[in-house]
Amino acid sequence: MKRASTVLVPPEEMEKQRQFQELVYTKNIGFAAEQGRKPLAFVRTFGCQMNEHDSEKISGMLEKMGYGFCDSFEDADVIIMNTCCVRENAEEKVFGHIGSLKSLKRRKPWLVTAVCGCMTEQPHIVEEIRKKYKNVDLVFGTHNLHRLPELLFKVLDSGEHVYETSRTSGEVAEGVPVKRGGNIHAWVTVMYGCNNYCTYCIVPYVRGHERSRRPEDILEEVKKLCGIGYSEITLLGQNVNSYGKDLPEPVDFADLLRLICENTSIPRIRFMTSHPKDISDRLIAVMAEFPQICNQLHLPVQSGSTGLLKRMNRHYTREQYLETVKKVREQNPGIALTTDIIVGFPGETDEDFEDTLSLVEQVRFDQAYTFIYSRREGTPAAKYPDQVPQDVVKERFDRLLALQNRISKEINDGYLGEVVEVLCEGRSKTNLSRYTGRTGGNKIVNFRSPSDVTGKLVTVKIENVQTFFLEGTVLEVLS
Ligand code: SAH
Ligand code: SF4
Ligand code: F3S
Repeated sequence: MKRASTVLVPPEEMEKQRQFQELVYTKNIGFAAEQGRKPLAFVRTFGCQMNEHDSEKISGMLEKMGYGFCDSFEDADVIIMNTCCVRENAEEKVFGHIGSLKSLKRRKPWLVTAVCGCMTEQPHIVEEIRKKYKNVDLVFGTHNLHRLPELLFKVLDSGEHVYETSRTSGEVAEGVPVKRGGNIHAWVTVMYGCNNYCTYCIVPYVRGHERSRRPEDILEEVKKLCGIGYSEITLLGQNVNSYGKDLPEPVDFADLLRLICENTSIPRIRFMTSHPKDISDRLIAVMAEFPQICNQLHLPVQSGSTGLLKRMNRHYTREQYLETVKKVREQNPGIALTTDIIVGFPGETDEDFEDTLSLVEQVRFDQAYTFIYSRREGTPAAKYPDQVPQDVVKERFDRLLALQNRISKEINDGYLGEVVEVLCEGRSKTNLSRYTGRTGGNKIVNFRSPSDVTGKLVTVKIENVQTFFLEGTVLEVLS
């Protein structure tokens, strides 16, 4: 059965925001005349790729409003903190920063400080900011990001605090300007929100229900990116396998991938995240059919215990997960698999944890992102009685990490002496005499090259391997 169709932000509203962009721009001309310089913005991002991409939209709007950019709190005239709340430590970090900005605000009274993102979609956080952090001028959320020009104008014009989150149940705003962080790889959102309600997870509460972008809008964006020279895109969604369920036309994620592959010349396509419960045979087949879809899959398992998976509300068993992995590998030989695992979910017994270890041994993931369970207020698991003691969790976490690191290193050892294809992203940040890039399997490769091959697809001979990256020398420039 079809759900209610995705609602687009009406064109009049987008037009109104463009007008507010102009108004702030005019104010900034005044600022520049007075101070002899452009006002500068610092956008600080916490959290996942979704947030990184939202920050690119925030920066895109700020650019249109006449701001330049800096990368320190000290130099900024506008600070925007785009926050994450998936685990407690992410929130603590943000509050630490907000607190430390109090003195900066005293020295620079015109400074505008804004907090947005997932954290501010929780009413208790907005209350805490209202009460304890008067130095925060503007609070907005994830659903009303496109309204930044109007909200910022209000703050600049009235000098008063503005708090506005969740004005809608989640619409899709097309046409927000984007200032991308790089010119080789680009994020492309295909859907917003999540309907899965895993019992530990806060994301559905702060990101709203699932809303898919129209395939024609996505295709248009990818075509434009190709036109201006991008070589790689990552399609983003909390669960891309649900793509299209809310659209009037019968389209799913496999169709969308096919549409992009057949109608654009983008050399590399990645996507995340796939929920194991509904990865389809059609998706697995499309991945095998098109070489431009990278031979890589992020498939978060969370736990290797069927009992625990049930209490996490994941809707698959250990056996079903293993079956999916088998199918994926049969049709996509050599595919690099990565996963997410939570340690210390309430009620996790020694046996449950042993099941996770044995699944990790069995699957042999290229990499696993391991997290200590964090209690999130408002989620069902926060009320589960049998929270696991911290020392037990820590011990399990260390064991899992050691096991995965051993496996990652063993898999990487297999690359020694091999030749891999790498898309060069530029000079390595840690060693300026090397270049860095990724393989189709998403492995980081740092390599020597006699010439600057940034943006080019090259072959690299692997001469040394570490747990998290490979090292080598360029052989051939392919494009
Ligand atoms: N939508 C994606 C992941 C979103 S959050 C998916 O379903 O895979 C990224 C990861 O954070 C999750 O996969 C999970 O492993 C972890 N995570 C989410 N909530 C958490 C919590 N309360 N404590 C610890 N880790 C959590
Ligand atoms: Fe969170 Fe589960 Fe949705 Fe992923 S699928 S965002 S883990 S609720
Ligand atoms: Fe991402 Fe954190 Fe929000 S993981 S969706 S930024 S809560």
